[in-house]
Amino acid sequence: MLKPLAAILTAAGMTLATAQSEVEIFSWWAGDEAPALEALIDVFEAENPDIEIINATVTGGSGVNARAVLKTRMLGGDPPSSFQVHAGEELIGTWVTADRMEDLTDLFEEQGWMDVFPERMIEQISTEDGIWSVPVNIHRSNVLWYVPGNLDEWGVSVPADWDEFLGETCPTLQGQGVTPLAIGQNWTVQHLWESVALAELGPEQYGALWDGSLAFNDPAVVDAFATFADVMECTNDDFAGLSWQQATDRVVGGDAAFNIMGDWAAGYMTTTLELEPGEGFGWAASPGTDGHFMWLSDSFGLPVGAPNRDATIEWLRVAGSKAGQDAFNPVKGSISPRLDSDLSQYNAYLQSAAEDWSSDVKVGSLVHGTVAKETFMSEFATVIEIFLSTGSAESAANAAQAIATQVGLGQ
Ligand code: GAL
Repeated sequence: MLKPLAAILTAAGMTLATAQSEVEIFSWWAGDEAPALEALIDVFEAENPDIEIINATVTGGSGVNARAVLKTRMLGGDPPSSFQVHAGEELIGTWVTADRMEDLTDLFEEQGWMDVFPERMIEQISTEDGIWSVPVNIHRSNVLWYVPGNLDEWGVSVPADWDEFLGETCPTLQGQGVTPLAIGQNWTVQHLWESVALAELGPEQYGALWDGSLAFNDPAVVDAFATFADVMECTNDDFAGLSWQQATDRVVGGDAAFNIMGDWAAGYMTTTLELEPGEGFGWAASPGTDGHFMWLSDSFGLPVGAPNRDATIEWLRVAGSKAGQDAFNPVKGSISPRLDSDLSQYNAYLQSAAEDWSSDVKVGSLVHGTVAKETFMSEFATVIEIFLSTGSAESAANAAQAIATQVGLGQ
């Protein structure tokens, strides 16, 4: 049975200081992404003054570098106490399948979380054999960001779909020397791809890609790649070296009109850049995806053999708590998955995201681990590389299908 460490130790006549007193939390929330995690750590430390948090981060947006380091550590028998992992296939298809995680069902029952987290969320972190992580947030992937005053100045409005963007918005902006759509390094291009694919395929066909019932070389998907090729003509050429924050900076600085990024961009713009939602920046569903919420969730789990297991369970308890989540999420740019979250503590953007989450059709993100096992996810970077160097929708679609077959996507 999982009990808070403090209670166990008190019963045994011990103090925390004399026992397990360090918890190493592994994530990619460094630099601009650090403040939200620090807010959660503050809640933890206030409740557990005798447990020290070792905040181990590996920089690199969307975990491109952190996941590689994590793999080395996990396979080398040196797991951190707890690590950031996306709910869904990134967790289940990688670490749970390999028997590397502990079942947290007891913790969920003890904390009353079975009723507090939505069923859909619990499903994403569960198998028949258990519940495998604690979700701390819900992020939205398909968001279009812009600066309202700049759009007025350039005489463009938010495009409803890609036809409008390609036919009107993009040429109008290019005619004024403005980059229509800012992108950054490879994973942000993949991120753009998933929004374009959702718009062009619709939620059902997009979803069918992940259970293997729609092939990537199906003509509908090849067409989506072709639209993606046209969209890429409206982006900045120097994207390869830019971080997601630098792509956002292009929009905020008035060099570019739009950017499609997850709503951690809202966290960056409010927390780091101190912009006011609605004035400093505006948002809309990415073109053609109104009413569709492409979601992902960051979570923390308990690896088998985690050092300081009991103290780590205390970390997981705080990570799942209302106090922890309502401190973390308003800073992070995400909403809490908890049904009892106090929305009055969230800004106007996040309140609108919460409303959309409750009413929109939900689909999972590829790039951020919800729908496809990690082997496919990481190989998809190669598909985008092939696409960027050949510009061929068919080659990219064929390469994606070859990888899907090889990794057994949907099986
Ligand atoms: C996502 C993660 C977000 C944010 C983003 C940019 O994968 O879920 O919380 O950190 O990467 O790094």
